[in-house]
Amino acid sequence: MLRSVILAASRNKWVERRVETTPISRGLVKRFVAGTTTADAVAATRALVDDGLLVTLDYLGEDTFNTAQAEHTRDEYFKLLTALNADGLTHAAEVSVKLTALGLLFDPEGAYLNAKAICDAAAEVGTTVTVDMEDHTVTDATLDIVNRLREDHPWAGAVLQAYLRRTEGDCKEFAGPGSRVRLCKGAYKEPESVAYQARLDVDRSYVRCINALMNGQGTPMLATHDPRLIEIAKDRAKWFDRDKDSFEFQMLYGIRPAEQKKLAAEGHKVRVYIPYGDEWYGYLMRRLAERPANMAFFLRGVASK
Ligand code: FDA
Repeated sequence: MLRSVILAASRNKWVERRVETTPISRGLVKRFVAGTTTADAVAATRALVDDGLLVTLDYLGEDTFNTAQAEHTRDEYFKLLTALNADGLTHAAEVSVKLTALGLLFDPEGAYLNAKAICDAAAEVGTTVTVDMEDHTVTDATLDIVNRLREDHPWAGAVLQAYLRRTEGDCKEFAGPGSRVRLCKGAYKEPESVAYQARLDVDRSYVRCINALMNGQGTPMLATHDPRLIEIAKDRAKWFDRDKDSFEFQMLYGIRPAEQKKLAAEGHKVRVYIPYGDEWYGYLMRRLAERPANMAFFLRGVASK
């Protein structure tokens, strides 16, 4: 219930303005978002890489309504890749892109061309790109674009969401040689017709998807903070005879940082997803929806002002 309310608020402009102008938002934003500038993003990357972690960076820009905004987002990625390269970080840091921020909703071909330009720029500095997954209305369009990107850049990564009923099939389809699939539970409010609603059903689907990916020939990227699923993934890696460097664990910036370091110390590849930029509102609200304790933290801050 609370999750639905927060997710509804994540699309509400009135609430957005209220939250953005509340000073206490800043503390919470700081916990989950690395800052607003390229320099902030590079500094956060450097700190994590020095701790033995890998990174993927997301420039936050979700509501893109015209070509100029989409090109601005693309250009921010160019700036970021140049800065990561200048700092000698591209061996450990890649980027994540949202196709709606690159124009998917009003110009799918333009979004593909923007994503391709980012992949070309990433290839030039020796790193990779993963395409984030948004709500189910754009799943097919997103996967079509990932397939096109993979024609020139076979390493272009896809994100699949275990809460969607279709995802086990997508995992099998995307588990071929060279593929990179980031498996997450899914963060949007989706109807029952397309998505499992009960946590247990989502978790069971996640396990079936781990099996499909571990049994394939690509690189599974297991994006979850869930301790049970992490243990199951370790077990399945052994079962499918996979080396530790043939798959990754991935977590979000600011969530379970001690566990991130612990897994890395055990010899696992651990990649941290770092969001940065001005458009942090939708991202923050999805993190709040995942965990009522975060909401309590937020409300305590409001009350104390
Ligand atoms: P779950 O939410 O069940 O949490 C398990 C445990 O993790 C909790 O009990 C708690 O200990 C901890 N935890 C989880 N969330 C927390 C939070 N916000 N604050 C504090 N502790 C928390 N989604 C999507 O739809 N499209 C996408 O492209 C992506 N991309 C993506 C990349 C990466 C690297 C990650 C890690 C996640 C995503 N997601 C995503 C988000 C994902 O779908 C999901 O909403 C979150 O990861 C939370 O789900 P968990 O698997 O962590 O389990």
